[in-house]
Amino acid sequence: MSRAYGRVVGVIGLGVMGGIISETLARSGYRVVGSDRHKRRIKNVMIMGSNRALAERSDVILLAIGHRDLDEVGNEIRAAVKGKLVVSLLAGTKLERINSVLPFSRNSRIMTSIAFRLGSAVSAYCLDKRCTKEDGNTVSALLDAGSEQTFRIKESQFNYFTARASCMLAFAAHNMEGYYAPIDKGDFDERTRKLMTLLSFKSAIELGLQGEDVAERVATKGGMTEQGLATLQRAKVHAAMARTLKNAKEFGVVRERSAKQK
Ligand SMILES: NC(=O)c1ccc[n+]([C@@H]2O[C@H](COP(=O)([O-])OP(=O)(O)OC[C@H]3O[C@@H](n4cnc5c(N)ncnc54)[C@H](OP(=O)(O)O)[C@@H]3O)[C@@H](O)[C@H]2O)c1
Repeated sequence: MSRAYGRVVGVIGLGVMGGIISETLARSGYRVVGSDRHKRRIKNVMIMGSNRALAERSDVILLAIGHRDLDEVGNEIRAAVKGKLVVSLLAGTKLERINSVLPFSRNSRIMTSIAFRLGSAVSAYCLDKRCTKEDGNTVSALLDAGSEQTFRIKESQFNYFTARASCMLAFAAHNMEGYYAPIDKGDFDERTRKLMTLLSFKSAIELGLQGEDVAERVATKGGMTEQGLATLQRAKVHAAMARTLKNAKEFGVVRERSAKQK
């Protein structure tokens, strides 16, 4: 397997994701440098004075900035990344746009989630046509450092993947908090409550993956679960989640349309 061991991975933007990814890569034995507007410190990550200095020092450059910052960062690093591999984490930003900002590098896209810190992320990547097979191995190995599964997918699948594998963590966490809040009356301490939440969701998913129809099996006829499921149906919870996911899936498309309309 081609790991980027021995080569330098530079992470631009040390916010939530850049922080998690750079720390995890460093912990896995990669040589990592980082740059950020806030000069944050991350264990075993050398902080560079500028994005340009980082790009010059790195063999692989990972963009963990917001999509609004792409033009500014692109101007700073364009010349320095010539002939190098660039890995973009920007959700909803297509390779076409990355290529227009960084025309001299071999560009790729990745998607992962905050579970990268735990090594349990589900991650994906796609490569621009200028990328080599070796680049594919490098990107895949970088993702493996924090992932349970890494997929190579088509770029057209990226938003769907993002909605399910990354945004879903936030949607699920938001829902979990909301579900339990009204009945949390101090019957159990916080740690026990969190454990019950974690284990019930984890078991539902594992049983589902094994092919069990969990809802049907738990809902005894005329019982407490059956009544609860009817309440969920009346509240149209599925429809609300479907709208949420549809909006996430169309996020980049809508943004792209509005950019073209300008
Ligand atoms: N959060 C997630 O779970 C997640 C998952 C998958 C993908 N993503 C993608 O990952 C990217 C980063 O997301 P995030 O949640 O980590 O955002 P974030 O916490 O806001 O981190 C972005 C970081 O980039 C820095 N930055 C902006 N412009 C810069 C520049 N010119 N030079 C150096 N650093 C600069 C920001 O600094 P300032 O604070 O000064 O702006 C910030 O520290 C986004 O494109 C997002 O779509 C996020």
